[in-house]
Amino acid sequence: MKKFLLAIILFLLVGLFIQSCSNEQKPKAEAKEAQSTQDSIDACATIKDPNNPKPMALMMRQMAANADSMKAKINRGEALDSLQYPFIRFFVAEPTDPHVLEPNFFEKARLFQTAYKDLFKHPKEQKKYYNLMIQACVNCHQNYCSGPLKRIRKLPI
Ligand code: HEC
Repeated sequence: MKKFLLAIILFLLVGLFIQSCSNEQKPKAEAKEAQSTQDSIDACATIKDPNNPKPMALMMRQMAANADSMKAKINRGEALDSLQYPFIRFFVAEPTDPHVLEPNFFEKARLFQTAYKDLFKHPKEQKKYYNLMIQACVNCHQNYCSGPLKRIRKLPI
């Protein structure tokens, strides 16, 4: 019986403790959210944590490398093969700053995906559609991660 009472008291104490913790953290989390919506313009792994990149940052590096390689191929007059450049679903990967995952980001990602698919649908106008695809990179980066813009702006042909 004593043990039982003790267990109940412990249970209540733990409950109280958890509640007070979550009450305390709420306003802080809200403040943090407001702050990081402002920060999200520069939500880049390169700036925040260059040595421990998140999956989305790694995918972006691959996308930038692929764009370099596509540009070289187009300049050599070679056809782009969609099997060599599969679409990278970066928007399902974990980003450095989770606050970027808002409706506007997913809308920009959707427009980018359309531009990317269009490139492979127009083998006779690769240059035009490649440049449009890069413009879709820029359109998102102007909102979410301005750091790499300098590099991305060198990608059009
Ligand atoms: C829908 C938005 C969006 C699109 C489209 C997009 N990016 Fe990004 N990019 C981001 C975000 C957000 C990050 C920050 C990722 C992170 O830190 O986890 C990022 C990071 C990067 C980085 C820095 C990676 C690093 O080293 O930390 C490069 C380079 C980059 N993007 C290039 C590109 C290129 C090239 C394209 C087009 C082929 C592109 N991005 C399309 C949102 C986008």
